[in-house]
Amino acid sequence: MAEPSRRTVITAAAGLVTLTGCAKYGEPTNPSPGTPQGAPANTVLGKTEDIPVGGGVIFAANRIVVTQPVKGTFKAFSSICTHLSCPVATVAHGTINCDCHGSKYAITDGSVVRGPAPRPLPPKQITITGDSITET
Ligand code: FES
Repeated sequence: MAEPSRRTVITAAAGLVTLTGCAKYGEPTNPSPGTPQGAPANTVLGKTEDIPVGGGVIFAANRIVVTQPVKGTFKAFSSICTHLSCPVATVAHGTINCDCHGSKYAITDGSVVRGPAPRPLPPKQITITGDSITET
């Protein structure tokens, strides 16, 4: 029986490394235990007392704006402007305001009050538990 050449051994080893790499492709590197894949984790945003009646608060890190149009009624929308995707800057005088080009959205339903925004802010799902606001 012939001994494998040095070149044969190196080629076989390289193939093994390639196969090992392919077997891991696309798999999560560190899935969270107990969290189904693809399911967003619930994120506590803040307290209801922090949302002014007739106004709102922008949670920039979460890309969400929570409003309270009337006492005890909370709404949530994406905080990304539908014009050219700037983050909205303020909530004042009943509107959510983008400073990039002046779009304004109603705090009641995210509808466009003033353009150039072409579409309303998409709604976001939140849950109120006690005085805690959670993005769900
Ligand atoms: S990106 Fe908001 S108005 Fe243009």
